[in-house]
Amino acid sequence: MKVDLLKMTENGGCSAKISPKQLEEILKFLPLPADPNILVDIDTHDDAGVYKVNDELALVLTTDFFPPVCSDPYEFGQIAAANSISDVYAMGGDPVVALNIMMFPAVSLPMEAYAEIIKGGADKAAEAGVRIIGGHTIDDSPPKYGLAVVGYVHPDKIVTNSGARPGDSLILTKPIGTGVILAGQRLGLATDRDVDEAKRQMKLLNRSAAEVMKKFNVRGATDITGFGLAGHALKMARASKVSISINMKQVPLIGETYRIADEGCIPGAAFRNLDYAEADTTFTAGIDYNLKMLAFDAQTSGGLLISVPEKIAGNVLSSLLAAGLAESSIIGHVTGKEDKYLLLED
Ligand code: CO
Ligand code: CO
Repeated sequence: MKVDLLKMTENGGCSAKISPKQLEEILKFLPLPADPNILVDIDTHDDAGVYKVNDELALVLTTDFFPPVCSDPYEFGQIAAANSISDVYAMGGDPVVALNIMMFPAVSLPMEAYAEIIKGGADKAAEAGVRIIGGHTIDDSPPKYGLAVVGYVHPDKIVTNSGARPGDSLILTKPIGTGVILAGQRLGLATDRDVDEAKRQMKLLNRSAAEVMKKFNVRGATDITGFGLAGHALKMARASKVSISINMKQVPLIGETYRIADEGCIPGAAFRNLDYAEADTTFTAGIDYNLKMLAFDAQTSGGLLISVPEKIAGNVLSSLLAAGLAESSIIGHVTGKEDKYLLLED
């Protein structure tokens, strides 16, 4: 029996995230522990927590899991694992070990589908050099899958979303549009080619991008997931106490993302993300509506947004292109804090 996981869920991948506004309300109730060994915690809304073990070693801890983003169980496992591991790369860390997080309906799926999901996850983890050494399962529908990942980083070499500085250029390492394309697929608006390209991008580890960051001693980055390019850029601007300008015309889009958005296919998550960021964002007058909404499109397993001094941006970009990240682009820049944290132009 051929299983179609998309038939089991409305909002797959990172678009299933709770709205950023609601999340901030909830997190107010989370007490922040005071411990000098905690190097990064939820305070800056970074990609992962970092805990110092000694002067040479800190642990990077993160977890991500979500409902299916695609029909095929094996591909879903691959994408979920790549997405979970990404937060370690975004912090400049080396992912080492992981646990499976599995919420699987006990009756509605054949056993082979579960086997394929965890095999996809295990294969992607192995590609990243990550050993899966345990996990936890509960009975839940629709299915959800992901990893809790531990990585290593040198305490002096952590990359954070608070590391953007005025005068930096911003580089994005993968094109955006996964939310629009996956929604377009359900409506019959996306071509197979676009869906395949979106899946290829989502499966792609951010490892080679992270290696380039290390080579250039980059200190500021985040990965682009459920809050969209603009939502994560806003979190970076706030944490770094700077303003960020993004030129949406420079932002690479997957395949026919623009056409699909133009046909009216803009998923609800984009509106939730816009609602969260709107008060802190300046839009240039007459900005193209579709480009504006695409800035807020929830991405699943998106690329890294890297902040680097302008004078080395060209070299960083060349290295990313040479590493096979062919759509890496300089999409904006960082200034001192202006009236609003974020400027979107086209
Ligand atoms: Co992240
Ligand atoms: Co995450």
